Amino acid sequence: MVRELSVELCGVALDNPVIPASGTFGFGKEMAEIYDINILGSISFKGTTRDARFGNATPRIAECPSGLINSVGLQNPGVDAVIAHELPELRKIFRKPIIANISGFSIEEYVECCSKLDKEEQVAILEVNISCPNVHNGGMAFGTSPESAAAVTRAVKAATTKPVFIKLSPNVTDIVAIAKACEEAGADGITLINTMLGMRIDIARRKPVIANKMGGFSGAAIFPIAVRMVYQVAHAVKIPVIGCGGVSSAEDVVEMMMAGATAVQVGAENLRNPYACKEIIEELPYVMERLGIERLTDIIGIIE
Ligand code: SIN
Repeated sequence: MVRELSVELCGVALDNPVIPASGTFGFGKEMAEIYDINILGSISFKGTTRDARFGNATPRIAECPSGLINSVGLQNPGVDAVIAHELPELRKIFRKPIIANISGFSIEEYVECCSKLDKEEQVAILEVNISCPNVHNGGMAFGTSPESAAAVTRAVKAATTKPVFIKLSPNVTDIVAIAKACEEAGADGITLINTMLGMRIDIARRKPVIANKMGGFSGAAIFPIAVRMVYQVAHAVKIPVIGCGGVSSAEDVVEMMMAGATAVQVGAENLRNPYACKEIIEELPYVMERLGIERLTDIIGIIE
């Protein structure tokens, strides 16, 4: 029997639900050298800000059991360079709809990036990151209260006709309240979760491993937290959810979808195994067969 992997996000048809998470796949170039990335459902490209950013001081990666901490600090060439150079290159190697991941330090900056990317034909969805834990006065600062999350949502929605997904932080006490505030402010969907704030100490040097002291913890270790939050949010809102956080296998994709995700992002696992997304997509039909799943859409949110 043929297994149906396709899903739809706000009218955007994806051949399958597997999407590399922003910041773990760049703009696709390096990965396209090792496999045909057109196998992917979509790509969420590296978080883009109005101005070019060098990112945080190094070291900015700390390895951990079952995951890693990053404090990259939104390194990117800036939205104009992304539009002028990265997107035309990406278009040559990837023929499908893409997700533009946007970060900012003010509401005006989010709006400027969104309205510029709104004009890009291949950009099908704007993913507004209000959850980066690695920068001051921006990123996560907008995602830790329902009011500020709603304010960003309202402003970007007025600047684009494309579907807007808000990417939420797990570093909050009530993620459902924030998701609902975004929905009420007009969000078309929610992506969750971004990384958990973490820290490692080099006990020989008696110093934090990361120059910025703390960073975002991701990888397989956070998967159960992500499933829990996806479940809570997907059952509280009517808009679609993209599940993200520690996904490392085809079974994880199925679990995330049963919790309520319509599509699933793979993040840290791409850094551990660059073939992760390809292997997950190839494995999915076999896992579906084993579990008696004909269409992936049949299992979205089946856990009550
Ligand atoms: C970073 O560039 O610091 C990571 C992005 C994020 O955590 O949102």
